[in-house]
Order: sequence, then C-alpha cells, then structure tokens
Amino acid sequence: MSEIKACLFDLDGVIVDTAVYHYRAWKRLANELGFDFTEEDNEKLKGISRVRSLELILEWGGVVKSEEERSELATRKNDWYVEMVSSMEPEDILPGAAEFLRKVKAAGLKTALGSASKNSGLILEKTGLLPLFDAVLDGNSVATSKPDPEIFLKGAEALGVRPENCVVFEDAVAGIDAAKAGGMKAVGIGSAQVLYKADLVIRGLFEMSLEQLDNL
Ligand code: G6P
Ligand code: MG
Repeated sequence: MSEIKACLFDLDGVIVDTAVYHYRAWKRLANELGFDFTEEDNEKLKGISRVRSLELILEWGGVVKSEEERSELATRKNDWYVEMVSSMEPEDILPGAAEFLRKVKAAGLKTALGSASKNSGLILEKTGLLPLFDAVLDGNSVATSKPDPEIFLKGAEALGVRPENCVVFEDAVAGIDAAKAGGMKAVGIGSAQVLYKADLVIRGLFEMSLEQLDNL
C-alpha cells in the first residue's frame, strides 16, 4: 500500500498516440537517405530522444554523417513531425486519458507531464490538455534521458511531492526504469511481458481508476 499524492504521465503512447507521426517522419528521412525504416524499428525508439533516435536509425541504415549533418537531418525530421502534430485536436486524445486526468485532479492529487518530447507543449496545446497539468516537464527541461529518473524527479519537485508518493504512467521500458530508479510507483501501458517491472500493467488509461491507486 502506498499513499499516492501525484500522478506523472508520459505523453506519447499514454495520453496521445503520436508514434505514427514519428514513424512517418523517420521513414521519410530514411527513404531519402536510401534505406527503409519499419514499424518494428519505430517500436525500438519509444521514449528515446530525437538525437539518440537519429543515431540509431543511421546505424541501422549503415550511414555515417557528421554532427552538423545529423543536426540538419534531425531538424528536417522534426519539421515534418511538427507539421503533422499541428493538426492534432482533442479527438486525438487516447481513450480515457482526459477523463482519468480530470478524476485525479478532482480527488485533489497533483498532475505532471514527464515526456522526452520537445514538442510536448505544442501537443498539449493542440489537444486542449494543458490546463489539466500542474507542471510540464519535457525534453527541454532535462539534461539526461529516461531511463535516468531526472525528468520524473524534477516533476515531483515541481509539484512539491516526495517520490515515494508519486506514480508514473509509462508505455516505454526506459520510462518504467526511470520511475523505479526515482523510487516511484509505475503503471505500464501496454504488454505485461514487456513492462514486467511495472507495479501494474493496463491497456490504456480507460482501464485506470482512483481505487487502483490505493493498491499500488
Ligand atoms: C517521446 C517518443 C520518442 C521521441 C521523443 C522525442 O519519448 O516516444 O519516440 O523520439 O519523445 O520527441 P521529439 O518530439 O522531441 O522529437
Ligand atoms: Mg511513451
């Protein structure tokens, strides 16, 4: 049993499904560079920063680029991605996510976003979710990536809640590892086989209730 006072949420794959936009943009880039990029490859990039994702993709395609070229390629990918997410709307929120956030706030708990995406602000604004978060921590707020706990620890600090009173909702293994490394509870969204280190695994926030928080 734990006393949960704050809920911290990853964005991609938990609140919205932007993986498909990342996939399209990376695929377009890979194709321009002369190799393919599959949905399976895309899965491996969940929770991984833009810079690191590009390094991995170039490695998989057997392509070597200078740091300057990599920076240009990352910008090109991001421009396509931003163009796609710019047309997102409240209908693109994953089932149950907004409802659960509202319930959490109504119960007097705090909420924070903890996402590696530097586009988090734009997505929260487009989907109308910004008012449901007491704090927003994104790729611009941290020096290290998940599985380092920095983003969630900073989130807890911004909310004034101790890590042991926080629960993190995550769809990526790196995110569950980050929550655990920070001494927090973790709820996995996805497959129990993959996210086996989580305290509870659900299919989506539509399955989550406040009562379940008491049993973590
Ligand atoms: C999330 C996604 C990753 C993405 C990362 C950075 O963690 O799961 O696939 O690479 O954010 O996103 P950004 O919008 O900053 O490129
Ligand atoms: Mg995610």
